[in-house]
Amino acid sequence: MKRNILITGGAGFIGSHVVRLFVNKYPDYHIVNLDKLTYAGNLANLKEIEDRPNYTFVRADIVDFEVMRRIMDEHEIDGIIHLAAESHVDRSIKDPFTFARTNVMGTLSLLQAAKEYWETLPEKYEGKRFYHISTDEVYGALELTNPKGIESPFTTAASSEHHHAYGTVFFLETTKYNPHSPYSASKASSDHFVRAYHDTYGMPTIVTNCSNNYGPYQFPEKLIPLFINNIRHRKPLPVYGKGENVRDWLYVEDHARAIDLIFHKGIIAETYNIGGFNEWKNIDIIKVIIKTVDRLLGNPEGYSDELITYVTDRLGHDMRYAIDSRKLQRELGWEPSLQFEEGIERTVRWYLDHQDWMDNITSGDYERYYEDMYKNR
Ligand SMILES: NC(=O)c1ccc[n+]([C@@H]2O[C@H](COP(=O)([O-])OP(=O)(O)OC[C@H]3O[C@@H](n4cnc5c(N)ncnc54)[C@H](O)[C@@H]3O)[C@@H](O)[C@H]2O)c1
Repeated sequence: MKRNILITGGAGFIGSHVVRLFVNKYPDYHIVNLDKLTYAGNLANLKEIEDRPNYTFVRADIVDFEVMRRIMDEHEIDGIIHLAAESHVDRSIKDPFTFARTNVMGTLSLLQAAKEYWETLPEKYEGKRFYHISTDEVYGALELTNPKGIESPFTTAASSEHHHAYGTVFFLETTKYNPHSPYSASKASSDHFVRAYHDTYGMPTIVTNCSNNYGPYQFPEKLIPLFINNIRHRKPLPVYGKGENVRDWLYVEDHARAIDLIFHKGIIAETYNIGGFNEWKNIDIIKVIIKTVDRLLGNPEGYSDELITYVTDRLGHDMRYAIDSRKLQRELGWEPSLQFEEGIERTVRWYLDHQDWMDNITSGDYERYYEDMYKNR
């Protein structure tokens, strides 16, 4: 079936994986990638598909309602996968307004543009889809009730030996929203608007809340690429607090596969949690990264351990996130495919093999940003 799909934020980390997957997998679809190209957007992420006949790139700001409305018309959009957002918690603490602008007003502008366009069509919402990508951070923080880790109650084909849980409570789709950072508050607000457009106007919406992603093409302000890059340059590795905070990690291509499945098979108005069943303390993940980078660079074991530098904790730092994504497993048959150890090995190799990509984005403004954010804390 021919479809015209608008993917927002497609030049960012997760978005570029979703765009690549859709352009390659669905030659009959026309994929319109709309991105403002903020510091986080990088067209080099999409070199491989930029000349494909089923792909168009549009540089625009989702907050600009008139432009969104025109693009809906011009490309006869019948499906939207909305990833464009400001996505870094540390930046949201410094500049919450930008987060409210893009994440809240931008999502609202996109919803209204889709509503107005789809309502002009004879079939209206029939066959349409507005799929909003959100985060597990909207649920708030879980406690670290088992600091040493207990056997996880969940296993998948991709479960690793590590496979611990650091508490007995997990986020469900029904968990009450309780965001703590300006980032998660702005994402929570956008999720509410999306659901309100379904409940009020009958818009065919879906929301998914995913845990931390890792993999190629992630901007090196986020933990895993930041640390790989710093080890390479023998720079300090800034660890917040004691490094005890726990996150649930998912390989980005597994998230993209889930998005593909949910976009096509998900039930309208439903929410699906997406997670890796893969909890790690930050300090443990850092040790795995150091070990892997040192091994791949031919350094002696333990060579980069001395780079670990404990810094003042992030304000309001959530202790633990852990997703229960069994609904998605049960109802649509999705599972993470990659074991964490394999995913990390692949990720480290990718960054070490793509040093030009890293050097390009870490030149210029990045250095100033880095100093401001992590040094002298
Ligand atoms: N990275 C994660 O671990 C994770 C986990 C769960 C959910 N999410 C969500 O997934 C989405 C993508 O995350 P990511 O990590 O790829 O983010 P990212 O920061 O790497 O990319 C965001 C993209 O959005 C674009 N963008 C920002 N503001 C825009 C605007 N006003 N108009 C148009 N484009 C704009 C940027 O240029 C960039 O290309 C976000 O909505 C985020 O909340 C991310």
